[in-house]
Amino acid sequence: MNAVRLKVFITGASSGIGLALAEHYVTRGAAVGLVARRADSLAAFAARHPHASISIYPVDVRDTGALADAGRSFIAEHGAADIVIANAGMSRGVLTGHGDLDTFRAVMDVNYLGMVATFEPFIASMTAARHGTLVGVASVAGVRGLPGSGAYSASKAAAARYLEALRVEMRPLGVSVVTIAPGYVRSEMTAHNPYPMPFLMDADRFAAKAAGAIERKVRYATFPWQMRVAGMFLHVLPRWLYDALFERAPRKPRAAE
Ligand SMILES: NC(=O)c1ccc[n+]([C@@H]2O[C@H](COP(=O)([O-])OP(=O)(O)OC[C@H]3O[C@@H](n4cnc5c(N)ncnc54)[C@H](OP(=O)(O)O)[C@@H]3O)[C@@H](O)[C@H]2O)c1
Repeated sequence: MNAVRLKVFITGASSGIGLALAEHYVTRGAAVGLVARRADSLAAFAARHPHASISIYPVDVRDTGALADAGRSFIAEHGAADIVIANAGMSRGVLTGHGDLDTFRAVMDVNYLGMVATFEPFIASMTAARHGTLVGVASVAGVRGLPGSGAYSASKAAAARYLEALRVEMRPLGVSVVTIAPGYVRSEMTAHNPYPMPFLMDADRFAAKAAGAIERKVRYATFPWQMRVAGMFLHVLPRWLYDALFERAPRKPRAAE
């Protein structure tokens, strides 16, 4: 991190990984813009850091107009962002044939389209300055289609492919794109998962590792490292073996949004 105050915009900053990232950057003197629906959590964070430069935007990332306003107002207040982190996400168990279409749509809207909408207002100022890093939080769960989590796996696969396309598009324009694909991280999202979560990592430790990867502009990073190996293994697993191994894997319970 350089001596100039870093400007960081983060979605999903009211809990878990996003909150830990906000804490990480604020304690290092950055100016931050924080998005989430829970205004009280964002306000409480700002109150805990009275001397920091914090702008809060209680916005649903599916409200693309409000999200664009938040981005524009952050730029107006602080100037072009150095780092934009599209982290907001939701995970719900779903089953096709059981009336879960609304949940499928919500998961895709938040995890994938919400990411595109997060970056949208920042592109012009970043490319004009030929500077900055766009960060998308995908998941190891996007490497294969996890039974019972078809919506989540599909949304994270979409996010990862989108981020790859964006990375190549932005390269000649001087803007970096970093994909962070977490393994299991302790957060509200994983608090009630009824299955073992190997190598479960604390959110603050994860945030420190992710911030390091962002600073180094790593193209694709997974933490903890054991899950990077698991992700690479999953990626090359033949379909017949994947099917046999995952047929009886424990699933996230179905839940309406
Ligand atoms: N924890 C893991 O093991 C894990 C693994 C792989 C990937 N990830 C990804 O990491 C990211 C952060 O998840 P987390 O584990 O930190 O879970 P979390 O504690 O549940 O945090 C999710 C964050 O996203 C925000 N959010 C959800 N829907 C939103 C919406 N419609 N509009 C605006 N903000 C919204 C939530 O804020 P509000 O509810 O206040 O809106 C919250 O701040 C997600 O993209 C998740 O898919 C997590």
